[in-house]
Amino acid sequence: EKGTYPHYMLKETDEQPFVIRKIMQAYQNEQGDLHVDESILNAVNEADRLYIVACGTSYHAGLVGKQYLEQMANIPVEVHVASEFVYNMPLLSKKPLFIFISQSGETADSRAVLVKVKELGYEALTITNVAGSTLSREADYTLLLHAGPEIAVASTKAYTAQIAVLSILADAAAKKAGIDTGFDLAHELGIVANAMEVLCDGKEEFEQIARDYLSTTRNCFFIGRSVDYYVGLEGALKLKEISYIQAEGFAGGELKHGTIALIEDGTPVIALATQGSVNLNIRGNVKEVAARGANTCVISMKGLEQEGDRFVLPAVHELLSPLAAVVPFQLIAYYAALHRDCDVDKPRNLAKSVTVE
Ligand code: M6R
Repeated sequence: EKGTYPHYMLKETDEQPFVIRKIMQAYQNEQGDLHVDESILNAVNEADRLYIVACGTSYHAGLVGKQYLEQMANIPVEVHVASEFVYNMPLLSKKPLFIFISQSGETADSRAVLVKVKELGYEALTITNVAGSTLSREADYTLLLHAGPEIAVASTKAYTAQIAVLSILADAAAKKAGIDTGFDLAHELGIVANAMEVLCDGKEEFEQIARDYLSTTRNCFFIGRSVDYYVGLEGALKLKEISYIQAEGFAGGELKHGTIALIEDGTPVIALATQGSVNLNIRGNVKEVAARGANTCVISMKGLEQEGDRFVLPAVHELLSPLAAVVPFQLIAYYAALHRDCDVDKPRNLAKSVTVE
């Protein structure tokens, strides 16, 4: 039940710090370390390539997961949209492992791929919020999200739960392979949960950003580099699906290859800057669009902030920044939809779980 909340989406956004802590508990072993079932780690570490297959928000979580599995565990990863993969399968490696990410575990596009790869004799792991769901039953292995039921059509806590579980998987796979990731994941996830709480407690800020940038606009761009780009894709999807504002996420450097032509006086461009290695580059991109009249809104992270940034996120580990950075995007989308009198929990043309291909 949504209790005193006006919408499930707001309640589910607020639940995220608790979900992160719950996931940490659920994945802790007796020694207090984050841990994943040995059989799953064997499957991951024996594979020569991982294929992540998902749709929508779960696909966006998969993009972040690729970063984790490659950077932490040194395993090559491809991420595919299920509806494309099924009819246009790439050349597969010799020993692939498939990872399906699905909140509901019932998405038909993803299931079609699972059926196909099982026919080909490959193993699959499903990461889902619903124990006993079709994708969980039909895969060889399952990891649960422990996010609790997600009711709002716009996915929020499932996205952050997926990223948290993927970080745990990557960390455990790295340890199993004897790789030192150089950081204590449990400690860093604890910091993330606290940061999320601070963000959820400061909603007025994001309501104001929605008012200032999105109350009358027809379109909006999200830019970022590296994982910030992936979070921008998710920010754009949230905004599109519940506020009906045409929104697109772009890699900061790609704008000048065409899309910058769309920037007019007042076009909102929301930029995310949480990655030290590309901070100067994304700042350059912000200047490029500002020079063409864009109404720029920079969301940065403590330690990387510059004068004029609209909001500075609390500091979290750079790899885990999507977990914190998505919260403002969720809330900005929520308030933009609310200000435009849209049905936040049940946007037009959409169903919670898409069970047709
Ligand atoms: O249940 P799934 O994670 O498989 O669903 C995938 C997408 O349909 C879902 O994430 C969709 O994009 C959401 N409505 C986004 O908020």
